[in-house]
Amino acid sequence: MKKHVKGILLLAAVMMFSIVASACGNSNGGGGGGSVNVGIVLPTKDEPRWVQDEQRFKDALSGTKYNTEILFSQGSSAKEKENVETLLNKGIKVLIICPQDGDAAAAAVEAAKKDGVTVISYDRLITNTDAVDYYVTFDSLAVGAAQAQYLVDHSKGNGQPLYLYAGAATDNNAFLFFQGAWQVLQPKIADGTFKIANSSEAEKLKDTKDLSRDQMSSIIGQVTTNWDPNEAKNKAQTHLTAAAADMKGDVAILAPNDGTARNIADVFGSDSAVTSYVITGQDAEKASIQYIIDNKQSMTVFKDVRTLVKDAMGMAVEVLDGKSPETTGSYNNGSTDVKAKQTDVIVVDKDNVKKELIDSGYYKADEFTGL
Ligand code: GAL
Repeated sequence: MKKHVKGILLLAAVMMFSIVASACGNSNGGGGGGSVNVGIVLPTKDEPRWVQDEQRFKDALSGTKYNTEILFSQGSSAKEKENVETLLNKGIKVLIICPQDGDAAAAAVEAAKKDGVTVISYDRLITNTDAVDYYVTFDSLAVGAAQAQYLVDHSKGNGQPLYLYAGAATDNNAFLFFQGAWQVLQPKIADGTFKIANSSEAEKLKDTKDLSRDQMSSIIGQVTTNWDPNEAKNKAQTHLTAAAADMKGDVAILAPNDGTARNIADVFGSDSAVTSYVITGQDAEKASIQYIIDNKQSMTVFKDVRTLVKDAMGMAVEVLDGKSPETTGSYNNGSTDVKAKQTDVIVVDKDNVKKELIDSGYYKADEFTGL
């Protein structure tokens, strides 16, 4: 389908939602039973990524009569379950939820299903339950593959030290990112372009291109950041302290997202035995865009949250309309194949940062210095 036709259809869907939402009662999602149509639950305000999503939801909803409420789980699966119950008591028909912990969220969405609510897993897949109707996501394998390809494209000669870092093992995406990255990196480890610097488990598996979930777990268990920038910093310090001289010099670093990348970059940048580093990221956080402009972070993977929000809201509208939302594939969550709508990602580095993030209207030029 042509892009502009899609755009018109989406706009129509969003307008329909406005009509449906206003026909169903109160706006702003306040009040008691039956007052909210769509409940949105996001994992935590502590990571800028999710504050970004909240803002994009609000932007998409501003000036309309959407009957929507957004709640944060603050990194706690118990709080997440409580949030879902609160929204169920307000009569939601659709739940858009990004789980803190993919497995632990099963109980919350099973409660929603019991109430006849349609469940849309947002960005992160809820695992090992059949109580998920749809999944709206970016192409997470492509995220990891793009990060790894960037390291390959900027590698320097032979035997370059490669430092691996991963996201939280409770997040299914962390596996997809790592899997996508490993499939690109492994042949380059096998041919001697890179040598693994900080994971004995990865070293053991260096001849295996397609890793099982358990094999990935063993590596992620060693190099996880838990999506926590402080944990990332501590790990990087430990790794550099332990590293022999031949594991320094010009290094390549697979960092899973922007928050962890900035802290890891700071640690590597302050080690005088590290001559240069190339480091990946993800999410196009403002602070990392500044790091890219300042040559402190090499790249980020831009996930246009506006698209994800539109897709999730578009799906909610279709469900409220009694229609079956359009999907583009499916993801197995360990229990069932969940119908999914997937969005592409864009690699951003210093060369295209202005075009992709400023000229596209995602951020404003005056939010940065040295552009
Ligand atoms: C992932 C998400 C990423 C990143 C990370 C840390 O699940 O897809 O974009 O932000 O969580 O919160």
